[in-house]
Amino acid sequence: MTEPKLPDAPSTARNREPILRELQRLLKHSRRVLEVGSGTGQHAVYFAPKLPHLSWQTSERAQNIEEVRAWLAHHPADNLAAPLELDVTGQWPELAVDTVFTSNTLHIMPAAAVEIFFRKLPQVLQPAGQLIVYGPVKINGEYIGPGNAGFDEWLKEQDPLRGIRDLEWLDTLAADAGLTRTENNFLPANNQLLVWHKAG
Ligand SMILES: C[S@@+](CC[C@H](N)C(=O)[O-])C[C@H]1O[C@@H](n2cnc3c(N)ncnc32)[C@H](O)[C@@H]1O
Repeated sequence: MTEPKLPDAPSTARNREPILRELQRLLKHSRRVLEVGSGTGQHAVYFAPKLPHLSWQTSERAQNIEEVRAWLAHHPADNLAAPLELDVTGQWPELAVDTVFTSNTLHIMPAAAVEIFFRKLPQVLQPAGQLIVYGPVKINGEYIGPGNAGFDEWLKEQDPLRGIRDLEWLDTLAADAGLTRTENNFLPANNQLLVWHKAG
């Protein structure tokens, strides 16, 4: 039987190994991860079996959740839960996790949604929990690498509410939510892997 054609986000094949290397370090003592904006679910099906000591909870907006369901159905793992419907601007599920992970989402959702994301995050994040964000940001008003300037322009052509966010702005939103940034890792292709911690 041939595999049905699953939706493909090709960037996940390029960035999953560098992200996984950081996650294996950061999630050593983690037990429960909520992934926000799982996309196709390709990250989840790659990461979860390599992090067998924790459970990985995917989530997506209603309009994209079938893609996650399809990937998880074809690549099940014991520690990979069925996706939850979650639009960060709506009602969040009742959860308690020690880690929230999100990849390539904060430049896609409007700035107003990013604000709501940080405001609602403490509802699900346990004390001493961590937020891990992967994606492009500006630092001190500067793009990381010339490619990101063009990417930002392209994003805004698709939708003027999209755009690469300022790290300092994210830090302010995080601080208002009771989180402090502990890491800024430079990953390939001008992306950052950022970590904030909630007070214990
Ligand atoms: C570029 S995709 C990234 C998907 C995946 N995380 C990845 O790295 O391949 C952006 C994702 O952000 C999600 N997203 C946008 N706005 C959102 C919102 N308000 N709440 C939750 N997810 C949102 C989209 O549904 C989409 O899956």
